Amino acid sequence: MENQLKKLLQQAVAEIKQSRVARELEAVEKKYLGRNGELTKLLKGLKDLSEEAKPVVGQLANEVKEEVARAVEEVKANFQPVEQLGFFDPTQPGIKPSVGHLHPNTIIQYQLEDLFQQFGFMVLDGPQLESDYYNFSALNIPDSHPARETQDTFWLKNGFLLRTQTSNTQVRALEKYGAPLRIIVPGRVFRAESTDVSHDHTFYQLEGLMVDKDISIGHLVGTMKALLSAIFKKEVKIRLRPGFFPFVEPGFELDINCLICNGDGCSVCKQSGWVELMPCGMVHPRVLEAGGVDPNEYSGFAFGLGLTRLVMMKYLIDDIRLLQSGDLRFLQQF
Ligand code: DAH
Repeated sequence: MENQLKKLLQQAVAEIKQSRVARELEAVEKKYLGRNGELTKLLKGLKDLSEEAKPVVGQLANEVKEEVARAVEEVKANFQPVEQLGFFDPTQPGIKPSVGHLHPNTIIQYQLEDLFQQFGFMVLDGPQLESDYYNFSALNIPDSHPARETQDTFWLKNGFLLRTQTSNTQVRALEKYGAPLRIIVPGRVFRAESTDVSHDHTFYQLEGLMVDKDISIGHLVGTMKALLSAIFKKEVKIRLRPGFFPFVEPGFELDINCLICNGDGCSVCKQSGWVELMPCGMVHPRVLEAGGVDPNEYSGFAFGLGLTRLVMMKYLIDDIRLLQSGDLRFLQQF
């Protein structure tokens, strides 16, 4: 009987190891350890043994039972997910494929696109590889203008550049569609800058341009406020101060109270408590002219929202470099 028990153990373990799906394993377990299983059948012969042999064989039977149970557990723990096995196991629960999700930048971009489309704005996508003309000259920034130096530029050998601002699409759109015009241009821009918590060589802006008859600063401020309340869904403290950009006159800087430190001062707001979020202004007549629009007939406003900054404020991200790091520990939080 001892031999029979040992043989049973060998057979059971071999079959257990061959099991590839849960249902198969359960069947093997039942075959050997079940109420009418092989082990129970064998143990019926126990009563015919001598008194001395009974405890010895009983003990062995127990060990065999434990070992079979352990083998079942081991195999169960090592089961591979069904999709790796290359066949369909109907006994397994359904597996939902992981499809990823939107980047925080894209989430905010889509929200803004929805909002501006309600206001009748078109969403445009300008070129990232740009000529000097559309990135600078057409925007009233002629050669050797000091404003060029505020935007450290990646120049290409062929004279083209990586756009430093989504403003590059203003004159392109005016040329193509004329006035009246309402557009936003979300997109990637590049600066040859050293990086820190609030600077990256690649980031996102969202340009806005509205040209029509009798457009005033009132339209500009109203639009900015609508934008901010749509994103933050609460009152955010803002301040408007004069700002210089050659393509607007007058030009403004719209700052929001830093939401990371609540205005106390931190590395993101450079200890000032305020974050420059949205430079803006009334479109300079020369820009309208460059786009073939008569500045005596039309006026307009433009803004260059720092989309990446807005995302940082919205989600309280204290290092801009995280956004492009591709670090899943960061991205999975959104
Ligand atoms: N393009 C500017 C920059 O990147 C920001 C800007 C300022 C855009 C004023 C505008 C504007 O449309 O009106 O620094």
